[in-house]
Amino acid sequence: MNIVEVKSLYKSYTKSKPTKYAVHNVSLGIEHGEILGLVGESGCGKSTLGALMLKLIEPTKGEIWFDGKNITNLTFRNMRKIRSHMQIVFQGSSNAFNPYHTVRQIISEPMDNYTKFSSAEKERKILACLESVGLGAEHIERYSGELSGGQRQRIGIARALILDPKFVVCDEAVSSVDYGLKKQILKILYDLKQEKGFTYLFISHDMAAINAVCDRVAVMYLGNLVEILPSTDATALHPYTKALMAATLEPDPKIKKKKLVLFNESGDFSYPHGGCPFQSRCLYASEKCRTEDQLLREISDGHFVACHLI
Ligand SMILES: Nc1ncnc2c1ncn2[C@@H]1O[C@H](COP(=O)(O)OP(=O)(O)O)[C@@H](O)[C@H]1O
Ligand SMILES: [Mg+2]
Repeated sequence: MNIVEVKSLYKSYTKSKPTKYAVHNVSLGIEHGEILGLVGESGCGKSTLGALMLKLIEPTKGEIWFDGKNITNLTFRNMRKIRSHMQIVFQGSSNAFNPYHTVRQIISEPMDNYTKFSSAEKERKILACLESVGLGAEHIERYSGELSGGQRQRIGIARALILDPKFVVCDEAVSSVDYGLKKQILKILYDLKQEKGFTYLFISHDMAAINAVCDRVAVMYLGNLVEILPSTDATALHPYTKALMAATLEPDPKIKKKKLVLFNESGDFSYPHGGCPFQSRCLYASEKCRTEDQLLREISDGHFVACHLI
């Protein structure tokens, strides 16, 4: 069963013509208890899609469903109850903590906003939550300004997860941290999913991080979904996914940059109005790719690709 589903979703931030879409005709479901990865280059619409799913921003067109309910037109007030089941962990979210707040204050905040717990219950929950992110009771009185970057990141996760949300968007949650910490945080997120059955949309441009934790992977290009891989070891079929993987798995940053634009560098990369969004960069583009829209088709069990050539 899908915990979140978006149907023919569009988002445009501007009124200029022709319309440029940050999210263009996206239909996607996230199953209960899975980690769905969302990858694509910077600016392709990943954060916009995550924010739409949480109803932090309004769609231009299309529907958003949560836990079997159409929430597209719910007012801010009516979203309140549902919002307590949704959370976001984003890059740098922990830098926004008030340095004069203690860990206890920071982690209690969602509980104070949404529910009435006794103080004993609150204390018990905070300790359990700290433990689940690998921190001890000795941290509870510390001020956030006294914590290391890694500790703050964990507190950010603890705060997001304290109300046992049904759905969590992790937007580049491990992108700015060093390798060792990244591994630790990915393990925490993964273990919590196994233990509590959380469902995540895991947004990242880091293929290695995606491969470490995700069940399925959705690939985005210029606001469109171009491929959904049924597992992290499924073979990529879309020319864009192939190039993206080749580039992101390349350790040398100089070659990496080259690889991403290895296809058709002379192309016009502006937003195409009609046909495949990837047409101008694709080495294999034909007339059909320039004129006919591509929709995701199921190629094999759970593997969807939007490409004429496959
Ligand atoms: N608040 C905003 N106002 C105007 N344009 C925006 C806003 N947020 C994002 N965009 C534009 O929407 C597109 C998608 O952005 P975003 O969703 O942030 O992509 P990603 O997370 O993949 O980097 C980009 O072209 C970006 O410039
Ligand atoms: Mg983003």
